[in-house]
Amino acid sequence: MTMADRYTRLAVRGHFVQTRAGQGDSPVILAEEDGLMLVESGRITWFGPWQEGRTQVDEHCELICYEREQLIVPGFIDTHVHYPQLEIIASHGARLLEWLQRYTFPAEMRYKDRDHARRMARFFIRELLKNGTTTAMVFCTVHPGSVEALFAAAGDAAMRIIAGKVLMDRHGPPELLDTPETGYAQSRELIETYHGRGRLLYAVTPRFAPTSSPEELEIAGRLRAEFPQTWLQTHLAETPEEVAWVRELFPERAGYLDVYHHHGLTGERCVFAHCLYLEDAEWRLLHATGSTIAWCPTSNCFLGSGLFDPGRAGDEGIGLGLASDVGGGTSLSMLRTAAEAYQVAHLQNQPFDAAEGLFRLTLGNARALGLDHLLGSFEAGKEADFVVLDTRATELMAMRCSVADSLEEQLFALLLLGDDRVIRHTWVNGSLVHERTEAPCPRRP
Ligand code: GUN
Ligand code: ZN
Repeated sequence: MTMADRYTRLAVRGHFVQTRAGQGDSPVILAEEDGLMLVESGRITWFGPWQEGRTQVDEHCELICYEREQLIVPGFIDTHVHYPQLEIIASHGARLLEWLQRYTFPAEMRYKDRDHARRMARFFIRELLKNGTTTAMVFCTVHPGSVEALFAAAGDAAMRIIAGKVLMDRHGPPELLDTPETGYAQSRELIETYHGRGRLLYAVTPRFAPTSSPEELEIAGRLRAEFPQTWLQTHLAETPEEVAWVRELFPERAGYLDVYHHHGLTGERCVFAHCLYLEDAEWRLLHATGSTIAWCPTSNCFLGSGLFDPGRAGDEGIGLGLASDVGGGTSLSMLRTAAEAYQVAHLQNQPFDAAEGLFRLTLGNARALGLDHLLGSFEAGKEADFVVLDTRATELMAMRCSVADSLEEQLFALLLLGDDRVIRHTWVNGSLVHERTEAPCPRRP
C-alpha cells in the first residue's frame, strides 16, 4: 500500500491519539476522534479535525481510513537498545558483569562477519517495525561493518536511527577490542559517511568506563568536540559491582560520572543508560550538563540490577527516556517496556498513568533524544512516523477495551496487555512498512 505514482499526497483519516507535556510534570492525552492528517514527501503538512480539513482531500490524495477502534499514535521511540544482542535475549541466570562475559561478548564477536551483521540488522529492523518502533538509539559492536549493516537496513526503510560503533579497548576478549587510534579513525569515517545522510544520525559509543582506557575516553571526547552535532551513548551506574570497579580503575576521578565528564562526555544529546546507583553529586551533574538518562525497566529487572527511581530524575530536572535495552531487556516492544515501567514506578509508590506511558514512548522519548522538533506528535512540519494500534488485537483486549469507560482506561489496558499483536500498521516517513495480517477479534466475545 505505498503511495501510487498518481498521488502526490497521503491523507489519513481516523482516531488520532497523542500527548503533550502538561502543567508541571504530568503529560496529557489529546485525542482527535475523527481526525485527518495530510502527508507530503514524508512530512506532515496538516493535522486537525476531518470536518475542518476534508476540503483539502482531492484527487491527488491517497485516502486511508481507519476505524474508530484503531488508535493512530506517533511512532514509538526506543532510547537505548543493542541490535547484536537480539540473539542472546532471555539468556538465563547471570548478573551484568557475568552476563557480558558469558553471553554478550561471544554474541558480539560474530559481527566480525559482515554477512551475519547484514542478516541480523535486517532482522532487527523488521522486529522494530513489527513492534511499532520507528526510531531507536542503537549500540552496534566494535566492528565498523556492524554499523554499516544497520544503517543500510534502516536506510532501506527510511527510518530515523541513531547508532554508533562501540569503543572498547580493554577488559574484553581480544577479538572485541579496538585501540584509541583505530577507534578514532573508524568512528570518524563512519560519522563522515553516515551522520545526516537521509534520516541517519551518529552516536559516539564508548561501551562503559571499565572497557575504555583513559586514552580511549579521550578520543571519544575528541570526536564529540570535532563533531558536536553527534550524540553520545554509554552506560552508567547499572550495578554496585560495576561502580566499585570504576572507582578502582579511575581512583583519580571523583566518581563514575566524573570519568565521562572529565573527558567531555556529558551534555546535551549525551544519553546514559541505567543510572541506578548515582551519588547525589552525580544527579546534580547530569542536570547541570543537560545530560539524559535512558531508563531500562525490563533490563534492570531481568539482570537483577535494581529499580530505577524515575521520580528522582523528575525532581532533579533531568531528561528521561524509556528504553528496551535488549538483550539485557526482555522485549523490543515499547508497550511491554511501558508496562514494566509502570510496575517499577508503582513498586516505589510513584505515579505512572496512561498519559505518562504514551508520552514516554513518543514525544517524551523524542525530547529525551533532542528530536522533538521532528518526531513524537502530529504537528505540521514533523516527520510522518505513526503506528495504528488495534484495541481488538486479542479477545481479552477486545473485551477489556469494550468495557472501559474512557480513552485513558483503554490506553492503560493496551499498555499493560499489549505487545506486537497490537501493532496493526507501522508507517515510516509516510510509507506503510509493516502490516499485521491476522484478522481483528470481534468487538465483543
Ligand atoms: N554495560 C556495558 N555493556 C553493557 C551492555 O551491553 N548491556 C548492559 N545492560 N549494560 C552494559
Ligand atoms: Zn545497554
